[in-house]
Amino acid sequence: MTDINGIWAIEKVSFPTPWSRFSFLAELGHSLSHTLVAGPPPPQPWQAWGYIIYWVVADEMHILNLAVHPLHRRRGLARRLLTVSMAQARELGAQVAWLEVRPSNTPALNLYHSLGFKKMGRRPRYYDDTQEDALLLAYYWEG
Ligand SMILES: CC(C)(COP(=O)(O)OP(=O)(O)OC[C@H]1O[C@@H](n2cnc3c(N)ncnc32)[C@H](O)[C@@H]1OP(=O)(O)O)[C@@H](O)C(=O)NCCC(=O)NCCS
Repeated sequence: MTDINGIWAIEKVSFPTPWSRFSFLAELGHSLSHTLVAGPPPPQPWQAWGYIIYWVVADEMHILNLAVHPLHRRRGLARRLLTVSMAQARELGAQVAWLEVRPSNTPALNLYHSLGFKKMGRRPRYYDDTQEDALLLAYYWEG
């Protein structure tokens, strides 16, 4: 059972234009969509601290959403969510991982670059709320 309320609470404090609760429910019901949720180690009581949502379609991984609650940032949780989800996607046959990110999002850009993602292009006025472009990043697995 995925902690939809915990995920949505993190979403709302992490993005200027958060996904709706319905969007998360729709993702959970989609066969191509995968959700990983990070939380505290036992014996602490369960609580969602961060999550990643991604799709694997044919040989491509698409990272749709990633956030960590502000109280739990800079502890390596996002890096862990990304590396585990990328390993899962690789097992499912992914050869490349794609994502979009705002050019102003320095924390996320540093994270993705540190994991080997490269800038492949730019999508003009991709974000409705600010009309900001999106940078398109990709990671290609060797072989
Ligand atoms: C981006 C985000 C997911 C990072 O989560 P996190 O758990 O704090 O990240 P990690 O602790 O795994 O950090 C990994 C690396 O990312 C980079 N990074 C993370 N936060 C950073 C910050 N505030 N400033 C600069 N670099 C940062 C660093 O390179 C860091 O490595 P280091 O700690 O060894 O220097 C988090 O800041 C967040 O939820 N932001 C709001 C939502 C968002 O922007 N999601 C991404 C959309 S594309």
